[in-house]
Parts: sequence; C-alpha cells; structure tokens
Amino acid sequence: MEAKAPSESRTTLTDLVLPSETNPLNNLFGGELLARMDRAASIAARRHSRRIVVTASVNHVAFNKAIPLGSVVTVEAAVSRAFKSSMEIYIDVWVEDRESGRRTKANEAIYTFVAVDETGTPIQIPALEPESEIEKQRFEAALRRKQLSLVLAGKMKPAEATELKALFEE
Ligand SMILES: CC(C)(COP(=O)(O)OP(=O)(O)OC[C@H]1O[C@@H](n2cnc3c(N)ncnc32)[C@H](O)[C@@H]1OP(=O)(O)O)[C@@H](O)C(=O)NCCC(=O)NCCS
Repeated sequence: MEAKAPSESRTTLTDLVLPSETNPLNNLFGGELLARMDRAASIAARRHSRRIVVTASVNHVAFNKAIPLGSVVTVEAAVSRAFKSSMEIYIDVWVEDRESGRRTKANEAIYTFVAVDETGTPIQIPALEPESEIEKQRFEAALRRKQLSLVLAGKMKPAEATELKALFEE
C-alpha cells in the first residue's frame, strides 16, 4: 500500500451559522461545531483510507473562541498520522471576517477514526508521509496522543505507554 500525503485527505467545509444553531448568547452551539468537525474528519479519513470509517474517539477539543450568529465558518480536516487501522485527524476551525475576509483561528480538535470492512472489523490502511513543518510536528506528537487516548479508554496499561512515560523522563 502506497503512503499518502496529508494534502490527499485535506477536507474543507465552509458554512454559515444559522439562528437554529446558536445558544442564548447567539453563538454557535458546541454540539453543532462537533458535528461539523466529525463530518469533515470522516471525509478526510475516508479519502486517506478509501474504506468505511467510524469515529473511535474525540481526543481533544478546544473551544477557544465563541463563533457568533451569521459567521462564515470553515472547518479544515486532514489525516495527521496513520497507524495500522486507525488515523488521527487534526481539525482547524476558522472564522472569516465579513469586511476584510481575513480568517482567524477559532478552535481546533483531534479525532481518531478507524477504517473497517463490511463486517465492522478494523482493516489495514496506507501510511502517512508528512511534508510541511506543521504536518511533521503533528505526526510526531500523534503517537503520544494515541497512547493517552488508549490509556484513558482503559485499552492500554499506563506502563505500556512508552511515549507518555518519555515525556515525564525528559
Ligand atoms: C472503533 C472500533 C472499530 C475499534 O474496535 P476495537 O475492537 O477496539 O478494535 P481494535 O482494538 O483492533 O482497535 C482498532 C484500532 O483502533 C484504535 N483505537 C481503539 N480505540 C481507540 C481509542 N479510544 N483511542 C485511540 N485509538 C483507538 C486501536 O489502537 C487500533 O489502532 P491500530 O489498528 O491503528 O493500531 C469499535 O470500537 C467500534 O466500532 N466502535 C463504534 C464506532 C462508532 O460507531 N462510532 C460512531 C459514534 S456512535
């Protein structure tokens, strides 16, 4: 299986914030943003693996900035590392200024997707070869995040999380 670049899975979804998607402060609901990010991440995972993909975990979400009603929101997702059957997807959320058109980063998130066959069994996927500096940084840190996610899910013993242990030994 040939390795792929993050650009081959990059997925961009741009949409407005409508009144039905806001909270009483007229800002975008967190759940609505999670759904948009899940959709973009799912497309990115499918583009990388060309398989059926399922969300295995949401590893990290930071709601750093509120997104007001009427905003133009862009969700950008790409595979940041591929393991055997699982992929880490890094998602950046941007809000566009109405007058200048300048985009500012509002939020980010990291999801894990798993490629499965028709019976739901995890299946091998292509490797990922990062190209840009930021892609390399995200790739490097992904194994640590995978181990943390597995430890928190009770699927890995803390003693086996070598990358996490190395963090505390530095
Ligand atoms: C995701 C799912 C396929 C994993 O099944 P599983 O029996 O745990 O399979 P495995 O233990 O072989 O794990 C498969 C891969 O997922 C990874 N994985 C599983 N749980 C994980 C977690 N919480 N965090 C990070 N990675 C995880 C494993 O490390 C493994 O990765 P690798 O093959 O790249 O090394 C299974 O739990 C599932 O189908 N869940 C429901 C998914 C779903 O319906 N999502 C929509 C939300 S309702």
